[in-house]
Amino acid sequence: MKFALRAAAVFFVVGLLRTPTASQSSTSNEDLPDGEGKKILESRCTSCHELSEVTKFRGYYNRAQWRDIVVTMVEYGADLKKAEIETLADYLAQHLGK
Ligand code: HEC
Repeated sequence: MKFALRAAAVFFVVGLLRTPTASQSSTSNEDLPDGEGKKILESRCTSCHELSEVTKFRGYYNRAQWRDIVVTMVEYGADLKKAEIETLADYLAQHLGK
């Protein structure tokens, strides 16, 4: 029940942020390889913006810069544990890094 409420809250927020003109095509398949990092990305980084907000920076940042971004997002409210920040920084550097 708790989970259902949370999920409902997330969908509500996403619905609010999505503009009516936004394309309906799913951006969750940005051809990212499977891995722990992808799971974190898809579950924690898509409640405030689309995954494309992250993937559009493919090739722009090194690991330290990606890590900074993740830390900033955690300050904004992304729900990541310390270890997950490192896992995600590794993943982003590896697959979207420069
Ligand atoms: C609590 C809401 C929230 C969550 C959760 C969130 N973000 Fe963001 N993100 C934002 C906001 C707001 C912006 C736009 C403001 C800005 O660019 O600083 C943004 C912008 C970005 C940008 C673009 C930065 C730029 O230079 O324009 C990237 C990359 C990003 N987020 C990555 C992530 C990643 C990775 C995660 C998951 C760890 C994540 N976000 C989770 C709120 C969030």
